[in-house]
Parts: sequence; structure tokens; C-alpha cells
Amino acid sequence: MNFNYTDEQLMIQQAARDFAERELLAGVIERDDHAIFPTEQVKMMTEMGFMGMMTSPEYDGGGMDTVSYVLAMEEIAKIDAAASVIMSVCNSLVNWGIEKFGTEAQKEKFLKPLARGEKLGAFLLSEPEAGSDATSQRTTAEDKGDHYLLNGTKNWITNANCASTYVVIAQTNPEKKHKGINAFIVDKNSAGISLGPHENKMGMRSSDTHSVMFTDVIVPKENRIGDDGFGFKYAMQVLEGGRIGIAAQALGIAAGALERSVRYAQERKAFGTEIFNHQAIAFKLADMAVKVENARLLTVKAAWLKDQKQPFGNASAMAKLYASEAAMWVTTEAVQIHGGYGYVKEYHVERLMREAKLTQIYEGTSEVQKIVISRSLIK
Ligand code: CAA
Repeated sequence: MNFNYTDEQLMIQQAARDFAERELLAGVIERDDHAIFPTEQVKMMTEMGFMGMMTSPEYDGGGMDTVSYVLAMEEIAKIDAAASVIMSVCNSLVNWGIEKFGTEAQKEKFLKPLARGEKLGAFLLSEPEAGSDATSQRTTAEDKGDHYLLNGTKNWITNANCASTYVVIAQTNPEKKHKGINAFIVDKNSAGISLGPHENKMGMRSSDTHSVMFTDVIVPKENRIGDDGFGFKYAMQVLEGGRIGIAAQALGIAAGALERSVRYAQERKAFGTEIFNHQAIAFKLADMAVKVENARLLTVKAAWLKDQKQPFGNASAMAKLYASEAAMWVTTEAVQIHGGYGYVKEYHVERLMREAKLTQIYEGTSEVQKIVISRSLIK
């Protein structure tokens, strides 16, 4: 067992940390306040290769492993979790699935520009009436011979406006239930696609979330990923990897809250001494540190399993569940340690707390992770 990162992994971690502190920190409160998409910052992340970091060099990506991705995600999420989810959706929900299951023509046409960061991607699974119950897809993809006709509505779609390439999950044969579902690569500029307003979210406010409506959208047959009926399994497998990204994001949020709290506790004085010297605060920090470290171990383990080409679905569910619950707890304690200052925006921890909440919800709620984990116990 080796707990050391390689020199390359450490270099990526340092590059992400420097970038986040240099380019993301300054405007993060304003972007969050006014729900401003981080256009310039995403451009810089693209130039640094973060948007296609796990895609093979053969398809113009960075060819980095999942552990490196986790390290980069943690550093970016520490400072600006909304920026990290844009990166996570591109890397794990869109690029990885197309690389693993797409045809050579799909990779040439869609994956390469995504991996170069020239285009951003979005993953469209959730619907108004299909969130956790993902098999209940109401969006239809009618087989018309040489093309499919898409109709329906997708909800809560991250990157819906900034993305050019959508991966859409839709039902082709309702009588076959989940075995009738397909996954399609859809050009966002296709006729018949319209977007709802930007969602006014509690946290991750600068990420670009909309509902997406499809009205008789023509999708060429060659844009279907995998065999007819593979779409639900495709979505589940892609989400196994996606959950590692969200675990890393939750880890970053928790680690960021811990770092800020440790600093604050050494500066702030009460009852004649720095509050770190009060056991009530020191013990909170100790508990926070243990949760952060546990979250890191589970997340890096899931990433490592994926890199070793071993099954990682259960590990990614455990990492996502634990890290997001830890993030919620740690950020709540961080606000408590900061007292009144924690409740105002300048000290960042209230934002981290709002961001933590979403990690318990998207890419499978904590309850969904428990379904996955408990089922694995009797397999
Ligand atoms: N890999 C491959 N196949 C899988 C699989 C996996 N990980 N998980 C399930 N399957 C297969 C099953 O084997 C089964 O196939 P067969 O019938 O051939 O055996 C089929 O899929 C149906 O599986 P289940 O019976 O387990 O399905 P279920 O209805 O009980 O649902 C669930 C299981 C885990 C709850 C699933 O619906 C789920 O993960 N729901 C949550 C959806 C989700 O995570 N949404 C996130 C949206 S994306 C997002 O959030 C992006 C963002 O904004 C950042």
C-alpha cells in the first residue's frame, strides 16, 4: 500500500491550488452574489487543460489519472465550488462516457473539441418527475428510421447554457421500461431546443443551471451511444465516475472550511486568548479534521480503483455519501466557529455551507448512495 502521490500528481495539485488562489478567489463572492458565470476563469481552466484532463491524449485530452483529477477538483472546490462543478460535469459525466462507450466517429467529432475545452458539455438525465427515480424517463426519443425525434423536458441541468454538446438520456421503448432508454449526443444548437431561466439557487450560484426543453429535435441515428436500450446502464456507469468528482468537490468544500476555521481560531481572541486555546473550539477542529481526512481517503481510494480498472461503483457511492455529509457537517461547524462573522459573506464559510448542501443532492442524493451501497452488500 502506498499513500504517496506521484510527482506528477503533486504538480497538478499545486498548479490547481495556485490557480484557485490567484484567479478564483478574488471574485468568488461577487460571482456567487450575482450568479455570474465564471467565463474568464473557465477559459483559463481550459488553457490549463483542466476541462479534458482525464481524456486520453489520443483524443486531445491531458491523459491524467483520476487521482490527479480528484486532487485538482479538491483545490478548485476549496475556493470556488461552482467552478469545480463545471469542470466535473465536463470531465466525468460527458467526456469519460463518450471515450469509453462512443464510436470512433463520435470521439472524433464530439470528444476532441470537448477534451480541448473548445466546447463544454452537459449531461441531461434529471426530469421534473425523474430525479432519484431515474428509470422513469418521460423524455421520448422516437425512432424514425434514420434519426430520432426528441421531445420532453430536462431539469436542473448544470452547464445547460454554456455547453455546446449535450448527452441526453431519453426513452425510446416505454414498454421495455429501463431497457428501452437510450443516450444521445445532441448539438445544443439543434432546432427545437429551448432553455428555461437561470435557476436562482441557494448555493453554487454562479454555475449555469437551467431546465432544457426539446420539441421535435432531430438527432441523427449515429449520435446514439452504444446499442439500442443501453442508455440507462450508460447513465449509471457514467454516474459512478461522476460521483468521484462530486466527492472530491465535497472534500474541497470541507477542507476549505477547515483551513479557514483553523486560521480564524488562531487570530480571533475571546476570554483573553485565541479561541483555538479553548477546548470547545480545538475539539471541533479535531473532529472536522478527522472527517476531512476520512473523506479524502475514501475519495482517493475510489479514484485509485477506477485508475486500476477495478470495479469502483460502490467505492464512489461511499466516497460521495461520506464526503458530502462531512462537508455539510464541517461547514456548519465552521460557521459556528466564526460566530457572527461566519454568518456574513466576507468570511466565505456561509457560502461553503450553502455549497455543501448541493453535494448531498446532485449526482444522486445521499439516500440514493445508500441504495447503491446497501444493495452491494447482498450481491
Ligand atoms: N452499472 C451498470 N448497470 C447498472 C448500474 C451500474 N452502476 N446500476 C444499475 N444498473 C442496471 C441494473 O443492473 C438494472 O439492469 P437489469 O434490469 O438488466 O438487471 C438496471 O440498471 C436498473 O437498475 P435498478 O433496478 O437498480 O434501478 P432502480 O430503479 O432501482 O434505480 C438507482 C437505481 C441507484 C436509484 C438509480 O436510479 C439512480 O442512481 N438514481 C439517481 C440518479 C442520479 O444520480 N441522478 C443525478 C443526475 S446528474 C447530475 O446531478 C449532474 C449534475 O447536476 C452535476
